[in-house]
Amino acid sequence: MYTHLELRDSARPPVSLATLHDMKARGEKIASLTCYDASFAVLLDIADVDVVLVGDSLGMVIQGHDTTVPVTMDDIVYHSRTVARGIHRPLLMADLPFMSYPSRERALENSVRLMQEGGAEMVKLESAGGQIEIVEFLARHDIAVCAHLGLKPQSVHKTGGFRVQGRGADAARRMVDDAKALESAGADIVLLECIPNDLGAEITAALDVPVIGIGAGPAPDGQILVLYDILDITSGRKPRFVRNFMADAANNLEAVRAYVRAVKDKSYPAPEHGFA
Ligand code: KIV
Repeated sequence: MYTHLELRDSARPPVSLATLHDMKARGEKIASLTCYDASFAVLLDIADVDVVLVGDSLGMVIQGHDTTVPVTMDDIVYHSRTVARGIHRPLLMADLPFMSYPSRERALENSVRLMQEGGAEMVKLESAGGQIEIVEFLARHDIAVCAHLGLKPQSVHKTGGFRVQGRGADAARRMVDDAKALESAGADIVLLECIPNDLGAEITAALDVPVIGIGAGPAPDGQILVLYDILDITSGRKPRFVRNFMADAANNLEAVRAYVRAVKDKSYPAPEHGFA
């Protein structure tokens, strides 16, 4: 077993928001993955993943639910704390789960929990125009915020399932406007899930902050995938944007390294991973 102590190395300074901005400016792609425990966290650090997300996808991947809706603050805090113990270099982002940010005050209270109890450095919330005030309030309290647009899994019961978002001129225009408004409100990163490639490119070009995509085409400044998907642990049908990095790897570490390499050299995502 690797230990996190081996990872403390001055040649590998921790990734900060400034690092991500530099990467965007230099055109170096940001490699991100989800993670839910300390053992995988150590492995992601060794493989030089830049951003690690304790996503509420843990509700489906770890807990076996059909959606992310049942995930609680206590669940995310628990998993974030375990991941935080395993990483040194990557920036640690944690999800605000379903209904943990219905007001500015609750969003702040729960973000503080993710940071103080869970060790997170940044919080992510599923956003649109309705969350601008919340993002602005968190930013005003110096909390680093990632605004998640596009497919928002916490809203699947309202939106009718896991579908590509932002199709059609009106929906695309609304998403571009929301992304710009969230950036102006203080979002430090924007994450785009499951949208057409062209819209991913338009939003990335319109924003100064780093944009990370999942099923948003090759243009975003970085990519993120669910760890268990790239390691082929997830059973059943996978989304179109998933690539199985275990196919040519001898072990998990090799697979994660191959993912980081593919994001950096832009061979992932390939045309077959995107949406028209
Ligand atoms: O919860 C999660 O894993 C996420 C990613 C899919 C981006 O939000």
